[in-house]
Amino acid sequence: MAYLWKLITLLVIFFSAKEVAARTKLYSDNEQNGICKLMVDTQGYLCEEHKVTTEDGYVLSMQRIPKGRSGETADRPPVLLQHGLLMDGISWLLNSPNESLAFILADNGYDVWIGNTRGTNYSRGHTSLTPDDSTYWDWSWDELAAYDLPATFQYVHEQSGQKLHYVGHSLGTLTAFASFSQDKMLNMLRSAALLSPIAYLGQMSSFLARSAADIFLAEELEWLGLNEFNPRGEAVVGLLEVICQNPNNNCSDLMTSFTGKNCCVNSSATDIFLQHEPQPTATKNMIHLAQMIRGGKIAMYDYGSTEENNKHYNQPTPPEYKMASIPANVPLFLSNGGQDLLSDVKDVQTLLDSLDDHDRDKLVVQFTADYAHADYVFAVNAKQVVYDPLMAFFKLH
Ligand SMILES: *[C@@H]1O[C@H](CO)[C@@H](O)[C@H](O)[C@H]1NC(C)=O
Ligand SMILES: *[C@@H]1O[C@H](CO)[C@@H](O)[C@H](O)[C@H]1NC(C)=O
Ligand SMILES: *[C@@H]1O[C@H](CO)[C@@H](O)[C@H](O)[C@H]1NC(C)=O
Ligand SMILES: *[C@@H]1O[C@H](CO)[C@@H](O)[C@H](O)[C@H]1NC(C)=O
Repeated sequence: MAYLWKLITLLVIFFSAKEVAARTKLYSDNEQNGICKLMVDTQGYLCEEHKVTTEDGYVLSMQRIPKGRSGETADRPPVLLQHGLLMDGISWLLNSPNESLAFILADNGYDVWIGNTRGTNYSRGHTSLTPDDSTYWDWSWDELAAYDLPATFQYVHEQSGQKLHYVGHSLGTLTAFASFSQDKMLNMLRSAALLSPIAYLGQMSSFLARSAADIFLAEELEWLGLNEFNPRGEAVVGLLEVICQNPNNNCSDLMTSFTGKNCCVNSSATDIFLQHEPQPTATKNMIHLAQMIRGGKIAMYDYGSTEENNKHYNQPTPPEYKMASIPANVPLFLSNGGQDLLSDVKDVQTLLDSLDDHDRDKLVVQFTADYAHADYVFAVNAKQVVYDPLMAFFKLH
């Protein structure tokens, strides 16, 4: 039976692989059409577009909101917001100003900086490659932790002359955990808030994501030469259709089957969401995440053979990131939801167990029973439930 599904998926991908060429024009590298103009100016906030180049040549866009609606210049420290998988910086700006974290922070006197991961609509530049080159997509979250995050941290630190607070959601927590565990960037950090924290994925209960990992979906895309994982592309959409025909998967509400039952997302805002998200990532990144689901470890990308791993790491298996190595005095605010299928409660517990020696007064853990994955960025009550406690935590550090 599993074999049959695999065969069908292969056929679907094969016949939709033709799509790749036509698409690239859709993406904009034009600052005049950037996130500031699209999502921030329209709400009456000042906004600056910035460009940051990573050590491996990717040109990332960042947006800065230097003042709130009062017009008074920020008197609190800079905050860097880093979005999750298949999202971009727009995810912090989709709700009304009283509901969206980026605006709320600006209105509370913080100097707000928004990051956009390589490969998403507003970060598709590179010093020598284009997204049409397969090597442009030769990265996973190892590189996001090693290059994107340090580049944006450093840039905000230099521009503001201050240490910063960090807010990550989902993949934006994984890259932070990985970097912090290697003692990176901590000299520039005041504190970090990690929403829907992801370090371990072994217990992940999203049936859809697990099915995709089990049938080696991402590996097949790569095998067929689709190095860019574009969730709006025919290949991925076709595959989803196949997965959804499996009677174990209920896809009547894709967002719910994937992320969990979000209690407090405004359903009439979904259309606006779908205009901007989801965004592409590297197929290799999806493979890396699937390896974590299947293997239960937080380790570097597995090249699949002793020989290849030796080439990259000088050891037969990929090096692990040791969560217990995050220095005990780093102020951390972790918030996870009881309905979150991606940041599963059991996996978060494994993470907390590994932080057992963390200074008690430096670790705040918030559990919200009715929150799922998307509530952390889109819930209409997220200000009261998560962002107010988060800002109270920032004030202490
Ligand atoms: C990318 O950005 C351009 C310019 O703002 C916009 O017109 C287009 O819809 C965006 N595409 C996606 C897939 O987000
Ligand atoms: C947003 O919050 C401000 C300050 O709390 C309040 O004055 C304003 O009425 C709110 N706006 C909306 C649309 O709810
Ligand atoms: C699928 O989910 C929808 C809404 O979440 C529900 O109404 C429906 O009964 C479910 N179908 C099955 C077969 O479980
Ligand atoms: C939900 O979204 C609609 C359309 O954007 C908006 O008019 C309404 O005020 C929103 N409701 C809440 C509670 O934010």
